[in-house]
Amino acid sequence: MSEEETRAVDHWLEHVLIGDDPVLRHVQQRADRAGLPMIEVAPTAGKLLQLLVRISGARRVLEIGTLAGYSAIWMARGSDAVRILTIERSPEHAAIARENFVDAGVADRIEVRVGQAVDVLDELVAEPDEPFDLVFIDADKRSNPLYLERAIALGHPGTVVVVDNVVRGGSVLTEPAADDDSTRAADLRGTREVLRLIGEDVRLDGTALQTVGVKGWDGFALAVVR
Ligand code: SAH
Ligand code: DHB
Ligand code: MG
Repeated sequence: MSEEETRAVDHWLEHVLIGDDPVLRHVQQRADRAGLPMIEVAPTAGKLLQLLVRISGARRVLEIGTLAGYSAIWMARGSDAVRILTIERSPEHAAIARENFVDAGVADRIEVRVGQAVDVLDELVAEPDEPFDLVFIDADKRSNPLYLERAIALGHPGTVVVVDNVVRGGSVLTEPAADDDSTRAADLRGTREVLRLIGEDVRLDGTALQTVGVKGWDGFALAVVR
């Protein structure tokens, strides 16, 4: 199995199952022109998030890591009844995302909060509102354990939690050296720890799946709050 083959299969699946979507293409072009990193979920993964919104009947979705709003648009299109709160630390990314939400016709159902995700999440925990039915964690990987804890606090029994990028080319298998203070090592520790927590925490039941395709070899974790 070569990377070229898995990419080709992913493109074909996208063609057969999703097709060309002018709105999403436009959204991607704006992000691209603005020089944003092209690290949004793959189209087939966006569709999976949308299906999870529908399957779970989610009304309130929390997203950590907006970028240009690509994944949020996929989820918002899952149902007219779904409202999304998405958190982004970069004001530039948030501004692009807001334009994209207007053009995708979902701006009235998506709120972008600009700030460090942990700070915004702690504000949300401090002023309880309706719980979230689905949480998509896709920001700085080093903070994944903190995000998982807040997701549980802001959820309810049945809340679906998805954590992106938990395999990262197989790097998840290797514990980084204790003296490695690189971002990569910190992210890896965060990802390994969040998977351990999903496995151990009695408040959660979950699994993780490896993925291949247009984004290379990666994976996501899927959990439900008990
Ligand atoms: N979910 C998006 C991709 C998100 S990329 C999609 O699939 O379309 C990760 C985003 O998280 C980036 O825009 C980055 O600026 C943001 N981010 C990184 N660290 C963050 C933090 N500590 N708090 C809030 N946002 C953060
Ligand atoms: C990166 C982040 C992501 O959320 C992703 O899906 C792919 C790559 C990154 O920071 O490199
Ligand atoms: Mg991601």
